[in-house]
Amino acid sequence: MTTLTTTRPAAGVTGAVKVYGSGDTAVRALDGVSVGFPAGRFTAIMGPSGSGKSTLMHCAAGLDTLSSGTAFIGDTELSTLDDRRLTLLRRDHVGFVFQAFNLIPTLTVAENITLPLDLAGTKGSPEWIDALIDVVGLRDRLHHRPAELSGGQQQRVAVARAFAGRPDIVFADEPTGNLDSRAGAEVLDLLGDAVRRTNRTVVMVTHDPVAAAHADEVVFLADGRLVDRMQAPTADKVLDRMKALDTKGAPS
Ligand SMILES: Nc1ncnc2c1ncn2[C@@H]1O[C@H](COP(=O)(O)OP(=O)(O)OP(=O)(O)O)[C@@H](O)[C@H]1O
Ligand SMILES: [Mg+2]
Repeated sequence: MTTLTTTRPAAGVTGAVKVYGSGDTAVRALDGVSVGFPAGRFTAIMGPSGSGKSTLMHCAAGLDTLSSGTAFIGDTELSTLDDRRLTLLRRDHVGFVFQAFNLIPTLTVAENITLPLDLAGTKGSPEWIDALIDVVGLRDRLHHRPAELSGGQQQRVAVARAFAGRPDIVFADEPTGNLDSRAGAEVLDLLGDAVRRTNRTVVMVTHDPVAAAHADEVVFLADGRLVDRMQAPTADKVLDRMKALDTKGAPS
C-alpha cells in the first residue's frame, strides 16, 4: 500500500520477519512488514492482541533484532551496527516508553528521569530536563519513589525519561494503557506537543481509538502483517476499522 507522505521516514522496517522460538512452537510475530514512520509526525500502531505491535516497536527501536528484513533509524541500517554503536545510536536518538513502566523502584522520580543520561555518563541539558519536569507535572513528586505514585504519575515519569536525552524519535508502547481518561489525555497531549512543538517523531502503540485519533496517521497490524494505514484518523473511523479486523480474525 502506498502513502502520500513525502518526508523521509525517521525510522522503519522493510520486509520485517520476526520468528520467536523454532520447530513446532515457532511463532511468526512479524510476517513481512514494511512500514516507515515519517519524521516530525505522530504515528499510532493498532491491531488485535498478539498481532505483533510490541515486536515491531522493539525491532524498529533496535531493542531486538529481526529474523530477516531490515530495520533503520534515519540513514542507518541497524544490522550494520555492532553492539557498541547500536547502544550509542539508541542513547543519542531514541527514547522508549515500555508497555510496563519499567521504573526502578529504588530510585526517586528525578533519578528515574535522568537514568538514561546517568548511565551514559552525561548530564544532558539541565534546562531541557527542568522544562520536561514541568511539562509532565511532576515537580512536587521529584523525591518520591515510584511505589508512592499513582499509575498515571508513574507513566508520566516513564514519558519524561523517554524524552530526557532529547531523542529524535520516541517509541511508546501503550503509554495510556493503565491510565484513566484524564491522565491518558495528558500523556497524549505531551506526545502530541513533542511532535508539533519540537518537531520530534513519535510512534505509539494503543488499543484505544480515542488515543489513536491524537496521531497524524494510524497503521494497522493483524497476524504480523501491515493491513492498512489511515491518515487524519478520527476515533469513529478507527473504531470501525478495528471492528472489521476483529471480526475477520475471530473464529466464525
Ligand atoms: N519472547 C517471546 N517468545 C515467544 N513468543 C513471543 C515472544 N514475544 C512475543 N511473542 C509472541 O509473538 C506474537 C506477537 O507478540 P507482541 O507482543 O508483538 O504482540 P502485541 O501486538 O504487542 O500484543 P498486545 O496487544 O497483547 O501487547 C504473540 O503471538 C506473542 O505470543
Ligand atoms: Mg504489546
